[in-house]
Amino acid sequence: MATSVTNFVVLLAFATFSSNVVFGSLLVKDHVHISNDFSNGNKLTIHCKSRDDDLGWHVLQVSEEWSWTFRENIYGTTLFWCNLIGENHSASVQVFYMYDTEFLKMCNYKECFWSVRDDGIYLKNDWTASWSLWYDWEH
Ligand SMILES: *[C@@H]1O[C@H](CO)[C@@H](O)[C@H](O)[C@H]1NC(C)=O
Repeated sequence: MATSVTNFVVLLAFATFSSNVVFGSLLVKDHVHISNDFSNGNKLTIHCKSRDDDLGWHVLQVSEEWSWTFRENIYGTTLFWCNLIGENHSASVQVFYMYDTEFLKMCNYKECFWSVRDDGIYLKNDWTASWSLWYDWEH
């Protein structure tokens, strides 16, 4: 009796441990970077969120960068969006989304670089190291 309980506990511990390992290795760790590339010393205020996380408010001076890492959820629906506010501009944009292969390719499936500029919001192509205008300013 005592032996079978012990065996069960050991088995349970092992099962829990191994499933964490499997999920840990399957779920890609992603990284999103946002940099203030405005001219004129124009500050950039950022507020990013996902359904589960509020990353708070951040203010970047010109040529400063802010970034964060996260794991994709197991349903493949990870989505982050940000409000980006400059002195003369603002926009609310999706900065990480898994439903668009074109977008994921730009990020090489793991690391997205955004450059916030006077004429719009650019995304880096990790393969060619070139930048594409991805979003226009809303205001
Ligand atoms: C915002 O727009 C005003 C009016 O066009 C301009 O004078 C000012 O330099 C702009 N601010 C920045 C930081 O670009």
